[in-house]
Amino acid sequence: MSIANNHPGEVLTIKNLTVDFGGVRAVNNLSMTLLAGEMVALIGPNGAGKTTVFNLITNAFKATSGEILLNGKSVLGKSPDEICRMGISRTFQNIRLFPQMTAYENVELGLHSTPHYSLAEAFIRTPRARRAEIETRKKALELLEMVNLKDHANAQASSMPYGLQRRLEIARAMATSPQLLLLDEPAAGMNEDECNDLINLIRQIHTTMKYSIIVIEHHMAVVMELCKDSRIYVLSLGSLLTSGTPTEIQNDPQVIKAYLGERKNARENAPA
Ligand SMILES: Nc1ncnc2c1ncn2[C@@H]1O[C@H](COP(=O)(O)OP(=O)(O)OP(=O)(O)O)[C@@H](O)[C@H]1O
Ligand SMILES: [Mg+2]
Repeated sequence: MSIANNHPGEVLTIKNLTVDFGGVRAVNNLSMTLLAGEMVALIGPNGAGKTTVFNLITNAFKATSGEILLNGKSVLGKSPDEICRMGISRTFQNIRLFPQMTAYENVELGLHSTPHYSLAEAFIRTPRARRAEIETRKKALELLEMVNLKDHANAQASSMPYGLQRRLEIARAMATSPQLLLLDEPAAGMNEDECNDLINLIRQIHTTMKYSIIVIEHHMAVVMELCKDSRIYVLSLGSLLTSGTPTEIQNDPQVIKAYLGERKNARENAPA
């Protein structure tokens, strides 16, 4: 058992986290913290290791060394179910919905990952199971309403526009009543208007549900707006480059250099 040596008020404590994939050190000695109810961003050029950090927090990948604590308890070695029960939920950079199912069914599935009745009770439809079904339906519709998708409840997920699918992913992630919500590029592929709607939505969720949130995002306007009262962590080549307020980050020469390097590489690799 790990020693609970996080600071009071810290929901997430990452200490000296490292992961190697063969010869590639995707995350290098990373330490970061998240306070209860705080929303921070994790940014960095492509391949910096941002998604890998989420994969380590949710134990999809095994850390080479280091520690990750949720409320002082180690998450390392826990199964996906245990991670979910501990209160961690995420969305994916590459949307992972059940494409043939409706929006409602996708959220309902998320709710069933924490059932309050047994399979046998569900089978013989005991009053408790029936009450739970009604409750599930109500909760699923509430979640869809929260992300402004109630009118799309019966739409097949794959037929929904990309921006709406991203919202649906958020609703599904919320279905497990997380304490810590990890959003991996929620604004990817969105235009400016959609980004503004998304900012409002994430803010509203943050305020209403009191989640602690980490947002990975490339849209700088979204990052700066969401974190205007909090902090941003910047990763580069797996290591923490710096962390600070949006103003500090925007004016940090190291950050500018890391991003300029990315643009230069993109130009050099661009087809003629
Ligand atoms: N399962 C894996 N096996 C081997 N290498 C991996 C694996 N997952 C990630 N990597 C490597 O780790 C590094 C970090 O990747 P990661 O996906 O975390 O970057 P990222 O910061 O999320 O980038 P992007 O902004 O493009 O999404 C990259 O070099 C990537 O190729
Ligand atoms: Mg990524």
